[in-house]
Amino acid sequence: MKITYAGHSTVRLQGTKIIFIDPFFAGNPQAPHGPEKVTKADIIVVTHDHGDHIGDALPICKFTGATLVSQFEIAKEAESVGVKAEGMNIGGAIDVQGVKIAFTEALHSSATGHPMGAVVTMDGKTIYHCGDTGLFTDMKLIGELFKPDLAFVPIGGRFTMDIPQAVRAVEFIGAPIVIPIHYNTWPIIVADPHEFAKKVGKKARVVVLKPAESFEL
Ligand code: NI
Ligand code: MN
Repeated sequence: MKITYAGHSTVRLQGTKIIFIDPFFAGNPQAPHGPEKVTKADIIVVTHDHGDHIGDALPICKFTGATLVSQFEIAKEAESVGVKAEGMNIGGAIDVQGVKIAFTEALHSSATGHPMGAVVTMDGKTIYHCGDTGLFTDMKLIGELFKPDLAFVPIGGRFTMDIPQAVRAVEFIGAPIVIPIHYNTWPIIVADPHEFAKKVGKKARVVVLKPAESFEL
């Protein structure tokens, strides 16, 4: 699975299918390009409907024909504007085009429905995108249940975990590879990903990606 970071919480997963999680391009100062450059996508996963997460999900779904997978209420709203959507909630996984998608708890807020983290399994590899969240001990349970090969963990503080909390999250989740997200987009969420990597130490391999950089999982 090829993972490409677009800054903030936006990640692209490429394997059998092309998946975006929280596609935030327009208005994202870290994004390497605008949403119009996203010409191919099969599935768009949205963790919650804050603008920096639902972002360009609906227009991208419209011009690529991708299926939106999100919280039930967000999916209903998307369907009402002509987007193909799979609504679900925190709990068991569903199969979308051969990709397994489940949502987890996230300690945060959302204008519509409930904020969530996402677990995506494609081509035998599982990733856990924490979404926007504070630290919670059930991350340990999420780690045990889904055994993620890689976790995307927010480190920017203020709206999500900061570095010390994210280090605890890495211990709880137990994924061997971790990519920090949701930092340095704006001055209010400044964090040094290399300080995070140092503090994680041997607990996991921390891969720091600059926007537009990729990692092969
Ligand atoms: Ni948020
Ligand atoms: Mn956010």
